This record gives sequence, C-alpha cells and structure tokens, in this order.
Amino acid sequence: MGSLRVFMYFMVSYAIVSSQMPCCQSKICLPEKQSALFIFGDSLFDVGNNNYINTTTSAQANYEPYGETYFKYPTGRYSDGRVIPDFIAEYAKLPLLLPYLHPASSLDNYIFGVNFASGGSGALVETSEGILVDLKTQVRYYKNVRDVLRKKLGNEEAKSLLSRSVNLFSVGSNDYGARFVSNISVLQRYSKHQFVDIVIGNITEAIKDIYNLGGRKFAFVNIGPIGCTPGIRFQVKGYECNEEMTESARLHNVEFPRMLQKLKKQLVGFKYSVFDFYSSLSQLMNNPSKYAFKEGQVACCGGGAYRADNSCGGKRGIEKYELCESVNDYVFFDSLHPTDMANQYFSNLMWSANLSFNKPYNMKQLFEI
Ligand SMILES: *[C@@H]1O[C@H](CO)[C@@H](O)[C@H](O)[C@H]1NC(C)=O
Ligand SMILES: *[C@@H]1O[C@H](CO)[C@@H](O)[C@H](O)[C@H]1NC(C)=O
Ligand SMILES: *[C@@H]1O[C@H](CO)[C@@H](O)[C@H](O)[C@H]1NC(C)=O
Ligand SMILES: *[C@@H]1O[C@H](CO)[C@@H](O)[C@H](O)[C@H]1NC(C)=O
Repeated sequence: MGSLRVFMYFMVSYAIVSSQMPCCQSKICLPEKQSALFIFGDSLFDVGNNNYINTTTSAQANYEPYGETYFKYPTGRYSDGRVIPDFIAEYAKLPLLLPYLHPASSLDNYIFGVNFASGGSGALVETSEGILVDLKTQVRYYKNVRDVLRKKLGNEEAKSLLSRSVNLFSVGSNDYGARFVSNISVLQRYSKHQFVDIVIGNITEAIKDIYNLGGRKFAFVNIGPIGCTPGIRFQVKGYECNEEMTESARLHNVEFPRMLQKLKKQLVGFKYSVFDFYSSLSQLMNNPSKYAFKEGQVACCGGGAYRADNSCGGKRGIEKYELCESVNDYVFFDSLHPTDMANQYFSNLMWSANLSFNKPYNMKQLFEI
C-alpha cells in the first residue's frame, strides 16, 4: 500500500512534467530549461540509500515510526515525513527523487536527478568507517549517472543537462560529530583548525570532481548547531550543549564560504549558494513558538531525558521508546533529525528567502540563472 502510494506519486509528477516537454530529436525528450537536482550528503538528505547497503540498523531509518505522517510507511528517511530534498524537488517542479541505490533508479528518472545521500556519512572516508556511502563514493555514483546520460542522450545533451542542474549538499556534521563522539583516532589527530581545513579540503575535492564531470551549480546547507541537538546534549553531563562541537561548526561556517569564493575565481561558470541552516535551526530551537512550533528542545520519538537516547524505532539497542502525540509541534523528530514540519520550514527559506539566509542566491534563483 505504502510503496504503491509513493510509486503513484512519482508517476503522477512524472506525467505532469512529461506533458510539458517539447518534442525533440533524441530518444528521450527533455523539458526545455528544466534543471535536474542531484543530492549529496548525510541523513538530513538521505531518502533511503542506507536501506540498500550492508550496515547496522543504527544507521538506518527504514522501520516504524519513521515515515508515519506523510508516506505512511518507513521509507528510510530520518524523519516522520519528508526531508529537505523532497520539498526542494517539489518547488522546482521535479518528481520525487529516488535514492540512487533503489532498484528502480534509472535513466528515466536521472533526467530529473537522483539522490546519493547516505545517513551517517561525512566528507572524510574515516567518518563513514567503510559501512556507509562516503562522499567520494557518492561522486563516483554521479560519474556513473553522467556516463549513462552520455550514452543515452549524447555528449552535448548530457553536458547541457548537467550544467543546468543543481547539486545540493549537506555534509560535514558527521565528521565533526565523529571527532568528538567516536573513537576513530585519525579524526582526533588534528588540531581544531586543521580538522576544519581537511573537512573543507575534502568537500572542495568533491566539488572540483563534479565540476570536471560537468556540474556548474552548487548549493549547500551549512553546519547546524550540532553540539546542541537533543542527541548530543543527552551525552553531556547536566544535558548541557557540547560547546566545542558547536564551535567547530561555527568555524566551518566561516571558512566554507571563503573557500567557495576562491573556487568561483578559479572555475569558469561556477555558481554556488549557501543556506544558513545554523541560524534557522537555532531560531527554531530557541524560540519555537515564534515559528508555530511548541517544542524546540525535546525530540518527538525516543526515550530518556528530552526523548534523546536515540532509541526511536526500538532497533538501536534500546527496545522501549516513546512517541509524542502532536508531531507537528516539534522541531526534532528523533534525537538528531528534524520533523517533516521543520524540514518544510527550512525548505521554504532555502527556496525563497533573501540574502539574510541565502548567500548569494536562494535556491529558486540558482535554478533559474
Ligand atoms: C555484511 O557485513 C557483515 C559484517 O561486516 C559481514 O559479516 C557480512 O558478510 C556482510 N554481508 C554481505 C551480504 O555483504
Ligand atoms: C573507545 O576505545 C577504548 C579503548 O580502545 C574502548 O575501551 C572504548 O570502549 C571505546 N569507546 C567507544 C565509545 O567505542
Ligand atoms: C581529506 O581527508 C583525508 C583524511 O581522510 C586527509 O588525509 C586529506 O588531507 C584530506 N584532503 C584534503 C585536500 O584536505
Ligand atoms: C530580508 O528579509 C527580511 C524580512 O523579510 C528583512 O527584515 C531583511 O532586511 C532582508 N534582508 C536583506 C539583506 O535584504
């Protein structure tokens, strides 16, 4: 039932877009000026890639009550409903994008884009510990997609499609998270500043690789207030924020746009946009009622203080968990991830808010330029 619903949604959107396509010579008709959307990164954006890899249930969200409010079944999204790429695709008049590893993911939908994001992964290979789809692998998958497009559409049309398309990233949080929370020694070897440099250095390499494969438009959400999420506070004495972690996020958020400005000078035709996820999430957490939420600190799904013990769904080592009654009142669905409602709020800002949240363009402008 659930999977039929999502399939039908996909078909309906596809039909709407198809009917607007002008006729063309090649085998597949591309809507003129339609920009595809390619998604890279972590659990904020994953729409189910981790369902198809050999990993632990702690890195998956394909069980109840994930997905309960919108899709009515667990899709693998770390949310009660939709994630940011679902809304952005909708605003861009694209169909719902499939996870790249989904068996039905193929050329027919690559012309609208596809989602490579994998929950838990980071910019550094070590962060993913070989069990998640790290950023380098995601870029390799992008190359596969490019190769398929070239073969089917011809080099010129594939090039044009990729240069018009938007590449949207959420990456870095797990690198900073793993540095403070896990035991991976390589991640602790560097100073705070050095670590920010290698995270940004690895993201830069990914951007350059995608640019060399034909991508021109790049959009990013910056790093959120990661040390203050319910899940991290749960691990700190007195449920305080982990200030050191958040400080790394802030440092990253200062250095990252500087790197992008430098890249813009080096790469012809390179366009980018950064959404201030840090500020927008902080505002929701600190002042939820101002934005039509009731609870900005306590998670909807989980156990223990702030329902933040990471037990949502009962498959991560703790079986018992609670579920709130009115999920739409909450900013956080589980200990780390926003609700459908909060994701919709962020997506609206990303799509159309002005320079105070999006520098130098919002997503709507980035699609159009
Ligand atoms: C999945 O991973 C486990 C542990 O790493 C391994 O023992 C198992 O063989 C893997 N299964 C597949 C199908 O790759
Ligand atoms: C970290 O490593 C130490 C020693 O190698 C080990 O005793 C401890 O259980 C590890 N902690 C975690 C969270 O993996
Ligand atoms: C990428 O990360 C690795 C660690 O995984 C690091 O050794 C390397 O220097 C980084 N690359 C750049 C360009 O910063
Ligand atoms: C952006 O919009 C807000 C309210 O909509 C306004 O207060 C702010 O001055 C604007 N900022 C810029 C840089 O245009």
